[in-house]
Amino acid sequence: MTRKLNEVVVVDAVRTAFGRAGEKGIFWNTRAEDLCVPLLKALMERNPAVKPAMIEDSIWGVTNQVKEQGGTIGRMLPILAEWGWEIPGCSIDRMCASGLTAVGFSVSQIASGMADCLIAGGVEHMGHLPMGFMRDPHPRAEELLGGPSAFNMGMTAENIHDRFAKLTKDMADTYAKSCQDKTDQAITAGKLQDMIIPIEVELADGTQMMADKDQQPRPSTTMDGLAGLKTPFREAGGRVTAGNASGLNDGAAAVLLMSRSKADELGLQPKLRWVASAVAGVDPTVMGIAPVPATEKALSKAGLTMDDIDIIEINEAFAVQALYFLDQFGLKPDDPRVNKWGGAIAYGHPLAASGPRLVAFLCGLFKENPDARYGLSTMCVGRGQGYSMIWENVV
Ligand SMILES: CC(C)(COP(=O)(O)OP(=O)(O)OC[C@H]1O[C@@H](n2cnc3c(N)ncnc32)[C@H](O)[C@@H]1OP(=O)(O)O)[C@@H](O)C(=O)NCCC(=O)NCCS
Repeated sequence: MTRKLNEVVVVDAVRTAFGRAGEKGIFWNTRAEDLCVPLLKALMERNPAVKPAMIEDSIWGVTNQVKEQGGTIGRMLPILAEWGWEIPGCSIDRMCASGLTAVGFSVSQIASGMADCLIAGGVEHMGHLPMGFMRDPHPRAEELLGGPSAFNMGMTAENIHDRFAKLTKDMADTYAKSCQDKTDQAITAGKLQDMIIPIEVELADGTQMMADKDQQPRPSTTMDGLAGLKTPFREAGGRVTAGNASGLNDGAAAVLLMSRSKADELGLQPKLRWVASAVAGVDPTVMGIAPVPATEKALSKAGLTMDDIDIIEINEAFAVQALYFLDQFGLKPDDPRVNKWGGAIAYGHPLAASGPRLVAFLCGLFKENPDARYGLSTMCVGRGQGYSMIWENVV
């Protein structure tokens, strides 16, 4: 039996502000689920033609699926939103790309005709559930992954600097400074207001506040300031610092996806049309290089080249890893198509939330650039994976 794929569109994408992990973070007293439920509700409020009963699955990426993030959080979220028992849900783990994989699996369900209307999201409360918390790797994992550095993402970034020595610390710091500058410009110009859903929170000292701004950006970053930072992943001769790496963060993001026919039936104006996706595996000790093969595969499936891509959203786990990607595609570090509103070095990287965050940025950037046709969302993943998705502007 041959069947045609259904056209898949993104109708809307929202996120919380991203907080710093830890007691000084805006979400220290907020549970992971309570970051997500306001996003589910916001997607309905912003798109009144869509009713909770139409959601055929709630697919959530979560890296650390224990404690408040365990127990199949994807299933719990519609219940906590008081949407009833009829909305199913599940949780997915592909580490940093868990949320982007949730979007990808939703695309597959809709394209295949299994569903017409889905919510895909990602959440990570790294303050409550730090990276690696309660993990118990197989005794052979270290040997088979290529050594102990495969378990520490900062060390994998140092390994990229070692292996590709032309990517220097100065380049990483220049990239990081530019990221902070672009982020500051985007925030000052109000570009993020539409995607951030404010949440009322209580801080560690009991103060109540509205969490409606990202906590991590450092607009006063200077090259001198960056040059003087410690290199926590390698004491002598290290190049990766808190300034040219993404941080430890709490946050959530969610995407409403539909078949094109369902969106048309409901009179909704979609923002993106799915074109192609691919996932790739690489040497885990240099996991940050993986967006390159993943993007090459996705471009090939789409019948496109990098020249066709007008907007590139790469998750900056580390500056060196984004620089490697640009270098391999022959792009300059300051290519204007790349992370136009800044990236994870400034906003932060609450692991599974970052993929849907990239999709939300693409929605905003396509709207702002109606002449842009194709966009890319790509990210690297611990244990050596890359995930890339190509989208078309339909605004
Ligand atoms: C790099 C890392 C260890 C730093 O953690 P941290 O020490 O808690 O980070 P902080 O925000 O406190 O920054 C450390 C210092 O650098 C300073 N700093 C950070 N960014 C800066 C900037 N842009 N300009 C100037 N100073 C900066 C901070 O002010 C702080 O200074 P202090 O020690 O004098 O207070 C942590 O962010 C990390 O592990 N990042 C990678 C996360 C990761 O692996 N994710 C998965 C990717 S696959």
